[in-house]
Amino acid sequence: MSETLLLVGLQWGDEGKGKVIDALSSRFEIVARFQGGANAGHTVQIGDEKFILHLVPSGILHPGTLCVVGNGVVADPGGLLDEIDALRERGVEVGENLAVSDRAHVVMPHHKVMDRASESELGEGKIGTTGRGIGPCYADKAARCGIRFAEMLQPRVFRSRLDALMDLKNRILVEIYGREPLDTDAIYEEYCGYAERLRPFVRDTVAILHDALRQGRSILLEGAQGSLLDLNFGTYPYVTSSAVVAGGAPVGTGIPPGRINRVLGVAKSYCTRVGEGPFPTEQANEAGALMRERGNEYGSTTGRPRRCGWLDGVALRHTTALNGVDALSVGLLDVLSAFETINVCTGYRVDGRTLEQFPASLETLGAVEPVYEQFPGWQSDITEATEWEHLPAPARNYLEAIERIAGAPVQFVSVGPERNQLIERKADD
Ligand code: GDP
Ligand code: IMO
Ligand code: MG
Repeated sequence: MSETLLLVGLQWGDEGKGKVIDALSSRFEIVARFQGGANAGHTVQIGDEKFILHLVPSGILHPGTLCVVGNGVVADPGGLLDEIDALRERGVEVGENLAVSDRAHVVMPHHKVMDRASESELGEGKIGTTGRGIGPCYADKAARCGIRFAEMLQPRVFRSRLDALMDLKNRILVEIYGREPLDTDAIYEEYCGYAERLRPFVRDTVAILHDALRQGRSILLEGAQGSLLDLNFGTYPYVTSSAVVAGGAPVGTGIPPGRINRVLGVAKSYCTRVGEGPFPTEQANEAGALMRERGNEYGSTTGRPRRCGWLDGVALRHTTALNGVDALSVGLLDVLSAFETINVCTGYRVDGRTLEQFPASLETLGAVEPVYEQFPGWQSDITEATEWEHLPAPARNYLEAIERIAGAPVQFVSVGPERNQLIERKADD
């Protein structure tokens, strides 16, 4: 049956989206990214082979799946070419199965320099970005001075856009940030080289997706980051610069909202965060270290150790509602097999009262005291489980509690990083 399924992360990213997308992509003809850029790191493990995808959609490992980099993505052309080359070197076909939107914005050298310069300027108050130029590129897009792939492919247009831009950008780099100016001629040459190599991939992806919808083809929309990093609804300003939530998908692909049939929300069975910003259930202690060790919680993009903590049910309820989640995929459940007792935050206490909603104010969020509900652990190996009933009763009990807290049913459970370590719950489970 033709279906448009939208998959989004419900926490601070790294929920295991790449793994689930890869596992589901055999059921879809198209996999399309709609936001973010190379700040994403989506891991797919097939047998002992591990792939980390940054810009190329996680459906690429399924031959025959068309992968679309949508108009809402900001793409670093050099990084994209490196990723394509690395995949090809490992025997993955990348050709007509990859389409990059002509409306996607190009990450330019000054975006990366400014990302890092602004972080060092902020010092202690830094966001903890991935340094991939994401914020400055989206800022230029909003300021209407960005360059899209459509312009990059036309040398004369590209040159005039670049000339109009670089004078001001270099003044900011030199006079505000005290950096070296960038050489416009060198950038032009470098990016014209990228343009020629990427030309075969750059397409009108809006037309491709609309044709696909007309032909009844199935589409999986791949979210990057997580809803708590969303520009509008996340822990602002400790967020990324795109619309991560389900609402970003129509804008970032051109697919009308009414054509999205279902939303699958992906969450970890606990929480992690990379970068700065409040994290009420963080466990900067032995429990957090055990999660980090068992879950191999180091950034896929930057290698930074991820901050770890218990599942935050208040935040999960908030993001489940924001995304209109129809079903949940709960991952890394095997990581919790080591714990005798598992905590879930079901309320925030602040100034002697319980908050009903996830607060906008970071000062409030930073001051909340999580109220925990405790669940017995199962302390047995679940990595071989392939059916819901293979899971020990305490594990099923924990998943059912997550359903109640989040307000959506659990459809998938991931019990290991490998493609096949995914349980799909049947209707009568
Ligand atoms: P994404 O950004 O949401 O795609 O997630 P990442 O790939 O950045 O991080 C998820 C990490 O957990 C990766 O190292 C995955 O290989 C791994 N992973 C995914 N699902 C599971 C799981 O169920 N169990 C375990 N142990 N690891 C998992
Ligand atoms: P995936 O798709 C986890 C975080 C950064 C930083 C903040 C802003 O793999 O889940 P940015 O470079 O976007 O300006 O950084 O957002 N961040 C992520 N954290 N997973 C990601 O992507 C992330 N992408 C950005 O660490 O805190
Ligand atoms: Mg990741």
